[in-house]
Amino acid sequence: MRDTEKGEPLDRRRFLRAAGLAGAGLAASAKIANAQQQPDPLITEVQDWNRYLGDGVQARPYGSPSPFEKHIVRRDVEWLTVSRESSVNFTPIHELDGIITPSGLAFERHHGGIAEIDPAKHRLMINGLVDKPLVFTMEDLKRMPGRINRAYFLECAANSGMEWRGAQLNGCQFTHGMIHNVWYTGIPLKTLLDEAGVKTNGKWVMPEGADSSGMTRSIPIEKAMKDCLVAFGMNGEALRPEQGYPVRLVVPGWEGNMWVKWLRRLEIGDQPWHAREETSKYTDLLADGRSRRFTWIMDAKSIVTNPSPQAPLKRKGANVLTGIAWSGRGAIQRVDISLDGGRNWTTARLDGPSMPLSMARFYFDFDWNGRELMIQSRAMDDTGYVQPTKQELRQVRGVNSIYHNNGIQTWLVRGDGEVENVEIS
Ligand code: MTE
Ligand code: CO
Repeated sequence: MRDTEKGEPLDRRRFLRAAGLAGAGLAASAKIANAQQQPDPLITEVQDWNRYLGDGVQARPYGSPSPFEKHIVRRDVEWLTVSRESSVNFTPIHELDGIITPSGLAFERHHGGIAEIDPAKHRLMINGLVDKPLVFTMEDLKRMPGRINRAYFLECAANSGMEWRGAQLNGCQFTHGMIHNVWYTGIPLKTLLDEAGVKTNGKWVMPEGADSSGMTRSIPIEKAMKDCLVAFGMNGEALRPEQGYPVRLVVPGWEGNMWVKWLRRLEIGDQPWHAREETSKYTDLLADGRSRRFTWIMDAKSIVTNPSPQAPLKRKGANVLTGIAWSGRGAIQRVDISLDGGRNWTTARLDGPSMPLSMARFYFDFDWNGRELMIQSRAMDDTGYVQPTKQELRQVRGVNSIYHNNGIQTWLVRGDGEVENVEIS
C-alpha cells in the first residue's frame, strides 16, 4: 500500500473513464449500532480512567489535544521541500470538521522562516501618498475604535498546483490542504488609512512583512478600503507566530500570498509596484507564453475530505461523506455530489453558517454497497459561479500554471474501500 502519510506521488497517472460505473446506494438507512449479544469487557470491566483520579486543574495550563489524536498534524511533502525556511506544509483537512481550522493545524507558508517578534518592539508604519505618515505600536492598534471579528478562508494560490497536469498527490491534505479558515480580530484597514489620510492620487497599497523575506504585494485601494483587516487575533487569541504574530494583513477572498504576515509597513502609491511575488511568481503562464496579470480572486472550489486517500471507507452500509467549499466571490450557496464520476449529481446538505468568503461544510449521508465509486464535489457560490472540471480549466489556461487550480477533484473508491486520486478523461 502506498504511504499516504508522506504524500508520495502516484507511481502512475491514472486517467479513467466514467463509463461502466455501477450506481451507488442512495439514502442511508442501515442500522449503525449493534444489538448487544456477548458480554463486552469494555462495558462489564471497570477501566483505569474510571477507577483512578485524573490530573487536576492546572496540570495542563495551556491545553492540547488528547494523545490519541497526535497523528493529526500539519505535514509537508519531502519532494516539495527544498529548504524548510522557504516552504509549505498542509492542513489535515481530512481530520477536521465544521468550518473553523484549529490554530495549531493551520497550514504554514513561509518564504523566509517564522519571524519571532517581540510585540513591544513591533511597529506598523503608513507612508507614501498620505497627508500624515503614521507609526502604530501594537498597543495603539488595540486602542483603535472599530475593532471587528470575521471568519475568512485563506487559500494559497498554489493550492492544488501540483495537480495541473494530472493526478499526483495521494491525499486531500496534500492536494487541497493549503487552506485554513479562522476567526480574525482586528481593525479595518480603512480605519488606519483614513487616519493617515490617503491623497487623491493614492491608488495602490503595498503591505510589507517584517520577516527575512520582506514580502511585498500591490493591492488596489478599492479592495484595501472595502474589507481588508489588520488582524492581531485568530480564533479568539493572539495570532500564532506561524500566522504572522503580532499582526498580519487579511485580504478576504484573495490569494493567500497577499495576506502579508508580520506586517510592518503599508505604503500608498499611485501605481502597482510589480514586486517579485506578482511578476515572476504568482502569475499564471498561459499556453501561448503570455501570463495572466493580477489574478487576485480565489474562485469557488470544493473538496470531499472523507472519504479520501487518507480516509478510506472501512465498512459497507451507512457512511458519511463530507467536505468543504469556499469562494472568493461570495458565499457558498450549493454543493453537488457525484458518486459516478460526474454523470449524476445530488445536492449535498450544507451545515453551519455559509458566510461570504468563508468556508462552508457539506454532508452527504449514503449507503455504500461495496462497489467502486468515483466521488466528486462541485461548488456553486451566490454569484452563480460554478466550479469547473479540470478539463474545462485546462482548455482555457493550458497546463503551464501552478496557480489557481480550482478544478473538480475525483476520488476513486475501490471495492476494498481504499481511495485513490484519479482523473477522468
Ligand atoms: N507574509 C510574509 N511576510 N512572508 C511570507 O512568507 N507568505 C505568503 C503569505 N504572507 C508570506 C506572507 C503566502 S505565499 C501565503 S499562502 C500566506 O501568507 C500563508 O499564510 P499562513 O502561513 O498563515 O498559512
Ligand atoms: Co502562498
